[in-house]
Amino acid sequence: MGDPGLSGRFGQFGGRFVPESLVPACMELEEAFRSAWADPAFHTELDDLLHHYGGRPTPVTECPRLSAELGVRVLLKREDLAHTGSHKINNVVGQALLARRMGKTRLIAETGAGQHGVATATAAALFGMECVVYMGEVDTQRQELNVFRMELLGAEVRPVSSGSRTLKDAVNEALREWVASVGNTHYCLGSVMGPHPYPWMVREFQRVIGEEARAQCRQLLGGSDPDVVVACAGGGSNAAGIFAGFADATTSSLVAVEAAGGAAMATGIPGVLHGMRSALMQDEEGQILEATSISAGLDYPGIGPEHAHLAEVGRARYESAADDEVLEAFQRLARTEGIIPALESAHAVAWVIAAAKRSEMPSGSTVLVNLSGRGDKDVAQVRDILRAQR
Ligand SMILES: Cc1ncc(COP(=O)(O)O)c(C=O)c1O
Repeated sequence: MGDPGLSGRFGQFGGRFVPESLVPACMELEEAFRSAWADPAFHTELDDLLHHYGGRPTPVTECPRLSAELGVRVLLKREDLAHTGSHKINNVVGQALLARRMGKTRLIAETGAGQHGVATATAAALFGMECVVYMGEVDTQRQELNVFRMELLGAEVRPVSSGSRTLKDAVNEALREWVASVGNTHYCLGSVMGPHPYPWMVREFQRVIGEEARAQCRQLLGGSDPDVVVACAGGGSNAAGIFAGFADATTSSLVAVEAAGGAAMATGIPGVLHGMRSALMQDEEGQILEATSISAGLDYPGIGPEHAHLAEVGRARYESAADDEVLEAFQRLARTEGIIPALESAHAVAWVIAAAKRSEMPSGSTVLVNLSGRGDKDVAQVRDILRAQR
């Protein structure tokens, strides 16, 4: 999981499929990122912010009760404990620093679950920047609390009423706005998707998860790596971040878990969307299909191009979890460990529960789950679903 070079290709995936008017903006961003990433002063400032403001390093937590029930040793990388409640802050602090270095005064972002929007609004407040967040209308309703949070932080939330009114449509709107306002505006994209350099840049900003986790696991496991590393995948940034730390760990298998209704790897075929070539859910005519998931953050018909490549070369496996399994995992982690996961992260937990039940992992295996976020934002939605089921 290295530098994809100027073409931004990961095997046959990735690239930069944007209108001509956006090519200079992508190239300016790539140049700025290459220069910042090679600059020790940028890393010093970023590390300092992630530590004193973001709350890093996040711990790795043992799950003794869940482990006893499943017969495998479950460890959680606690991104839920990062400032604003998810891994999204790692990427956003990096991009906001970069935007300031580029002389931009305004951030725009898309958001699904609202976590990336909240993180972007937070970074904009921290750096005194203007902030506009595009969010599908459907998501503004199911993630009402995060809309209010963004507004509290001084951001303007623009509901998107086109298409399926979810994440895909919010990305379309943000890309459209970026074309018009690129002079003073940085598009703070929230996952390892979009045109080059985003998939690479966002993975590098999230790499800190994997690097910390590898060292923490080695300490806990007497110098060994976990047998399995699992993360949920919408666009795929928390998965890419944790995988980056274990890509060369030959004894660790890597598993990403998509929503069953948004499983681009299981049901998708290669195509182009949002500036990238990747695996996408589409019909025979190439029309993008609508994803459906209980979790707004995984409600996306594609996945980042590096994931499509990791699957093609066999380095990572892509699985999916259905909404009912996710609801079950959400409650089970709460009851056994006192940790309420984000619905997105509950996909990873659901796969571990299912795989342990199928005896897919030998008894006594060690599984590291990236707990990408906390479930506070989802509690009202889950309450309503469970009440309706009674
Ligand atoms: C807590 C949490 N986890 C995961 C995701 C999915 O994003 P990604 O696949 O880029 O990590 C989101 C997206 O909103 C999220 O809020």
